[in-house]
Amino acid sequence: MNKLTIIKPDDWHLHLRDSPYLAAVVGDTAKQFGRAIVMPNLKPPITNCEEAESYRQRILSDLPVGSQFQPLMTLYLTNNTRVEDIALASLSHNILGAKLYPAGATTNSDAGVTHIQKIYPVLEAMQKHQFPLLIHGEATDNKVDIFDREKHFIDSTMQQIRNDFPELRIIFEHITTREAVDFVLAQDDDVAATITPHHLLINRNAMFEGGIRPHHYCLPIAKREEHRVALLNAATGHSGRFFAGTDSAPHSQTAKESACGCAGIYSAFCAIELYAEAFELAGDFSHFEAFMSLNGPKFYRLPVNTLQITIEKSEWQVPQTLDYPGGLLIPFKAGETLQWSIV
Ligand code: NCD
Ligand code: ZN
Repeated sequence: MNKLTIIKPDDWHLHLRDSPYLAAVVGDTAKQFGRAIVMPNLKPPITNCEEAESYRQRILSDLPVGSQFQPLMTLYLTNNTRVEDIALASLSHNILGAKLYPAGATTNSDAGVTHIQKIYPVLEAMQKHQFPLLIHGEATDNKVDIFDREKHFIDSTMQQIRNDFPELRIIFEHITTREAVDFVLAQDDDVAATITPHHLLINRNAMFEGGIRPHHYCLPIAKREEHRVALLNAATGHSGRFFAGTDSAPHSQTAKESACGCAGIYSAFCAIELYAEAFELAGDFSHFEAFMSLNGPKFYRLPVNTLQITIEKSEWQVPQTLDYPGGLLIPFKAGETLQWSIV
């Protein structure tokens, strides 16, 4: 197969940052996707409806002229999130869920939740209002090996949330392990997961190929090959509860190439092409449209996009660098050849 037309995809997990970085990256996503779920981990974080609405306006005003791209907002849960904020957000068409960052799990998560019990009243309200909970699923105890943090979180916290709030709608974000795939498959329709293009394409060796490779460092960290294969099987399979969420997370070249480099991979520049590359590896595009464009809207109870896009097999080279305020941005697969292009 050399050409494929599908309904325009959406990105169900994206970091857009704020001015001046926002304007440098939002066009990359807007040219590929109809909508995106925008992460709230700004500094300070987006914790209520008012902040989410004003962030949404800043995103809209930084869009390229004529763009129809729709940002879908999320709230950042803290120990102090109020039940009223959830009730209000659940009435908004522009705010689709709330994100649980266990405190200390990742970039700008310091304001996150320290103990899951602290937000039980909020989870109760989210269950009642059918307001989705997006979870960064990693244990934060630094005695837990970094490669085991997702599995540990499933056993310690995810299962507990499921037991205590059986009707809460949950998206297990950017899953990276076979255990996470198995967990999602064992649940009912209230649980889904996003998968990034980089976790479909690299395993942990990529961080150490001939030296340390900061541009392959993200959280959750890439795992062993067996896990990449499990993710690829999930993404290309027929379950209907796995969908695209790039977790594209821009950091400047200097912030990445440092003695203490930031976690995050910038994939927005060619996200669809990267997902196509992964499906090509699996040799099976039969569920590509479902993964990219149908499963996400179905879970979030939104209509699918009306426009279509066509991709074709035609090689091109990812640029080495992109412009970014105060420096450069290194895209995922910089300088490498990809097999698929958007027509
Ligand atoms: C994200 C970021 O930089 O905001 N980084 C990452 O490695 N994915 C945060 C996150 O989603 O964990
Ligand atoms: Zn993220």
